[in-house]
Amino acid sequence: MEKLATYTVTAALPYANGPLHLGHVAGVYLPADIFVRFLRLKGHDVVFICGSDEHGAAITLRAKKEGISPQEIVDKYNNLIGEAFQNFDISFDIFHRTSAQIHHETSQDFFKKLYENGKFIEEVSEQYFDEEFQQFLADRYITGTCPKCHSDGAYGDQCEKCGSDLSPTDLINPISTLSNKPPILKSTSHWYLPMNLHEEWLRSWIQDGILDGKEQHQPKEWRNQVIGQCMSWINGGLKPRAMTRDLDWGVKVPLEHAEGKVLYVWLDAPIGYISATKQWALDNGKNWKDYWCKTEAEDRKLVHFIGKDNIVFHSIIFPILLKDHGDFILPDNVPAYEFLNLEGDKFSTSRNWAVWLHEFIADHPKRIDELKYVLTSIAPESKDSEFTWKEFQTRVNSELADVLGNFVNRTLVLTQKYYEGIIPNPGSLSKEDEELIAAIENTPSKIEKLIYAYKLREAQAEWMNLARQGNKYLADQEPWKLIKTNPARVKTILYCANCLTLQLALVARPLLPGTSEKITKMLNVDVSKTSWDSKPTDILTEGHCIGTPEILFFKIEDTLVEEERAKLLKNDSTHTKFPPMKEAISFDEFTKMDMRLATIKHAEKVENADKLLKLTILTGIDERTIVSGIAAHYTPEEIIGKTVLVLLNLAPRKIRGIESQGMVLMAEDTEGALSFLSPEKAFEAGHTVR
Ligand code: MF3
Ligand code: ZN
Repeated sequence: MEKLATYTVTAALPYANGPLHLGHVAGVYLPADIFVRFLRLKGHDVVFICGSDEHGAAITLRAKKEGISPQEIVDKYNNLIGEAFQNFDISFDIFHRTSAQIHHETSQDFFKKLYENGKFIEEVSEQYFDEEFQQFLADRYITGTCPKCHSDGAYGDQCEKCGSDLSPTDLINPISTLSNKPPILKSTSHWYLPMNLHEEWLRSWIQDGILDGKEQHQPKEWRNQVIGQCMSWINGGLKPRAMTRDLDWGVKVPLEHAEGKVLYVWLDAPIGYISATKQWALDNGKNWKDYWCKTEAEDRKLVHFIGKDNIVFHSIIFPILLKDHGDFILPDNVPAYEFLNLEGDKFSTSRNWAVWLHEFIADHPKRIDELKYVLTSIAPESKDSEFTWKEFQTRVNSELADVLGNFVNRTLVLTQKYYEGIIPNPGSLSKEDEELIAAIENTPSKIEKLIYAYKLREAQAEWMNLARQGNKYLADQEPWKLIKTNPARVKTILYCANCLTLQLALVARPLLPGTSEKITKMLNVDVSKTSWDSKPTDILTEGHCIGTPEILFFKIEDTLVEEERAKLLKNDSTHTKFPPMKEAISFDEFTKMDMRLATIKHAEKVENADKLLKLTILTGIDERTIVSGIAAHYTPEEIIGKTVLVLLNLAPRKIRGIESQGMVLMAEDTEGALSFLSPEKAFEAGHTVR
């Protein structure tokens, strides 16, 4: 027999800068896990790789926002994410991290080899620089107006609105995200990957599946969106891309004259797949090269599961690097997923419009497989799709509980009731029975084709169809009626129904491993020695004694749907009236503010300004003037004598020709009504706030 292909399957390394939400799960990790579990059952040698992506601006900007160090950020989220994957039973062979020593070494060696072989171009250019923070501004450190679609808030590497790939110098009105000030230009040198030199082979490899004159993959196996996005990049003309950055967080550039420079995160991160494989090989007595290196001796396939925003990095940039290096295989496929939306809106971390995986697990620990089932049913394989709690409920109740659960339960309960759990002799089969047995036997090969073609939604639908067929079979045959009139026939029916139950469990192994295990346990069958191609009729034979039936799926009440929706609305800042928290500041920054109590000695209207009052205030240390926009809310008479909170050291400003020396602090409600912040005890002016 021909040796089966070896597979190296990777799932995009999540940035360790926040928790995972259901969009990530549905569009990368769950499909990758299903695919890998299936390959293992087929007998392929597989390694399944993931880990956290711990470099780049995604990390340092998050650290700044939370007011802790980048190291603390990656430790925190690496733990949170790793644990969620474990609880969700994603079967990575290793969940590694790019902060590991072995990764720094691997990516530095990789860079060095390309450098020594002249694969990079060193070039000095003018780059944006933040004078206040003394930092060059690449990627997410700089925003501005997109030159293509003219929307605001485009980043230095990409416009999220129109998807264009950008350079910081393309941006209109660039602003530093560190200081919020316009940057200056300053010269710096970097190593560029001349992607423009690679267009020709990329074109034939991506479009026709041909590399170095040899067929690599069938072009029709790749998803249209992936080919489409790559070709539109290539046809637009590839440009040299800097592979290094002026930053202090990342993998140091391994060259003498490269102080203060690190590898571009999109260079180091995909190499993370290789370093993770190395670590796994060390831990398990394997050779990592068996999973990454070119060989004539066997068929080695590399598969990257990713979201659509990662396409160019995995189908253009990383393949160029792998090919330039020379030892490596190129991806056999890059199954990229579109986006999952949530309750009519995009998932948004900043707005907290998300269902977080770790929270789902904590709140519904017994519904892991229900979530897997629903996410696969709606997986955004060819277009964006949507998760709603209502649909979650409907699919669990009317498919998992009413179809699958009902069928399995009826079969097992009747087998217990009529035969004390012993599988009866099948006797002779009717036309309906034969049809059912044929459906049982055909299902694995149908599903297999779909999984190899990355059509997991359809694969799962086939599986549910088989359960549907079983349900209908029992409803048509009505063994509970026949038991009185034709008991011999009931034996045949329940024999067939038990075989179908086992087939459902066998086929569910990659899709819903927990459910599969529950069913095989109820059937009292040991499947540990069986493969994808094992036949239920060979495993479940006359005289086998099944175990105790239990309910497989509990229905979801309306209250769960309502509670989950309410939780979303409550969390989300666009649906609450209060603004989200501002960026964290240090204690030092806080203590710089001189806030203290002051008494209003005098107040008068400012001429020709409806909104302004000119206040004379006693601060305990001096008497000064503050112009305050409160005239629509208070008359001068009613506020004289009040003791209020002021910010004393706000830089003086001229308002209507009057110098205002500080600011009276007010609470403002969502309708714009104002209130002074007066002390609750009779404190005098001059006392400070801390
Ligand atoms: N961290 C990236 C993201 O979340 C994905 C990195 S995948 C890798 O978009 F290939 F770079 F590892
Ligand atoms: Zn744009």
